[in-house]
Amino acid sequence: MRLKAWPGLAALCGALGLAACGAAFAGAPDAARLEEGRALFQKKAVPACAVCHTLQDAQATGPIGPDLDELQPDRDQVLAALRDGGGAMPSFAETLTQDQRETVADYVVWATHPH
Ligand code: HEC
Repeated sequence: MRLKAWPGLAALCGALGLAACGAAFAGAPDAARLEEGRALFQKKAVPACAVCHTLQDAQATGPIGPDLDELQPDRDQVLAALRDGGGAMPSFAETLTQDQRETVADYVVWATHPH
């Protein structure tokens, strides 16, 4: 039930342009945002996350960084990694906008948690 309910609600909120819906459904990104997040993950980010990370939803099998399906990072964890980098991971603070970083973070959280 919950699984099917939120995309419909999010789409409805978008269609109606209800600002309050954004807060009510925070954590349930709409389809366009997920698609953009997936595209950033697979190829738009440079270097692409998929080169280094495994993430089933993105058909990514990168062997260098942690397997994100296993790690199941939360939003703040992804944003911190994108801002600061770490080890072999570059910072994306200069190469992605804040909005792009939030979009890819929402996507990774969505893709790695039950929904
Ligand atoms: C060049 C390889 C590389 C690329 C490209 C890369 N990462 Fe990483 N990533 C890593 C490595 C290595 C680590 C482990 C860093 C460490 O141990 O400090 C990591 C860690 C992470 C973590 C875990 C942070 C934590 O708290 O443990 C997340 C989340 C993450 N990356 C997301 C991304 C996303 C999203 C992208 C694309 C925008 C990306 N990475 C691109 C190599 C990469």
